[in-house]
Amino acid sequence: MARALITGVTGQDGLYLSELLLSKGYEVYGLMRGQNNPKRALVEAIVPDVKILTGDLTDLSSLIRALEISRPDEVYNLGAISFVAYSWENAALTSDVTGRGVLNALEAVRLYTHDDPSKVRFYQASSSEMFGKVQAVPQSENTLLWPRSPYGVAKVFGHYMTINYRESYGMHASSGILFNHESPRRGPEFVTRKVSQAVARISLGIDDSVTLGNLDARRDWGFAGDYVEAMWRMLQQDEADDYVISTNETHSIRELLELAFAEVGIDDWAPYVKQDPRYMRPAEVDLLIGDSTKARTKLGWEPKVHFPGLVSMMVQSDLAEQKKLAGL
Ligand code: NAP
Ligand code: GDD
Repeated sequence: MARALITGVTGQDGLYLSELLLSKGYEVYGLMRGQNNPKRALVEAIVPDVKILTGDLTDLSSLIRALEISRPDEVYNLGAISFVAYSWENAALTSDVTGRGVLNALEAVRLYTHDDPSKVRFYQASSSEMFGKVQAVPQSENTLLWPRSPYGVAKVFGHYMTINYRESYGMHASSGILFNHESPRRGPEFVTRKVSQAVARISLGIDDSVTLGNLDARRDWGFAGDYVEAMWRMLQQDEADDYVISTNETHSIRELLELAFAEVGIDDWAPYVKQDPRYMRPAEVDLLIGDSTKARTKLGWEPKVHFPGLVSMMVQSDLAEQKKLAGL
């Protein structure tokens, strides 16, 4: 039975990846931080077969301990402070967790496997946020990185550290440059889920508006369930490498609003949407659109869910949840 250790198991991707690996017969260990993590119950309810270990990406010894207990064939480093807006307010913490945490995870694997670092395969959750002020359209593995947020800068550090450990120690370390991926499990602070929740509440008469920031930014949005499949495929390759994972389509926040409101029969969304500068960012990533040709060719991966299906899935899920909460 193959064994996997996932950091960030309480997050959106951690849950989907746990389900995927369990369905493939893996023994799955999940690293969870904190003394009494509020998301523990969620993990136990959705993926009860995951074995929970405590640890923190800022604590090297806790990572080594997790490796010694789980003895994994594969490590998926998904843990991070992942909310871009928050990273300006907590830049040092973001650097420690999202940047230096990657070094800790790589170093833990190197120390644990000192005789043969290639015996544990390592996945790093890199991000399209690294492209920032984009230097090419669309963005591929060869596009120059120009991060625009402390989060983006930290991810660039982790990305290059992953490549460096591969080149320095022969580690089977791959970096997935994933474009935005969403789902009904997305945190409510991210724009897709903020919109799907608000649309559900507005259509049920619970709220009368939603307040957003920049409506013109464009993102390449896919479905998280499809994207964790790409992570797994990367680690099944003989050679470690870096891959862009994207739908290769881009849509604005305005298009997101149009589809989400249409899902509940509202054609004119403008009266329900307010804008507030507090949701604007000090530096914006205006346009993301990926070119995932390499992943499609080498991994045989492609997304199954496209933007309209994703928005519909999220709004319907939030409608069901909000009805339940309101006792309707
Ligand atoms: P998420 O839902 O925000 O989950 C982040 C996870 O990191 C949570 O489990 C969180 O645990 C954990 N974490 C935070 N601080 C930690 C620490 N100090 N030590 C250990 N774990 C810690 O993020 P996601 O959407 O699943 O994304 C997974 C990864 O992919 C992240 O690295 C993210 O930056 C990256 N990524 C995401 C996207 C996307 O569109 N979703 C795109 C590209 C890259 P708690 O529950 O304890 O907070
Ligand atoms: N969150 C949020 N809230 N974003 C808003 C809002 C709002 O009220 N109004 C407009 N936006 C715009 C943001 O300015 C940004 O341009 C876009 O919506 C997407 O924001 P998020 O959903 O917060 O995601 P992100 O693109 O910044 O970051 C996500 O994707 C990255 C990959 O490109 C996160 O998952 C990162 O962890 C990930 O690396």
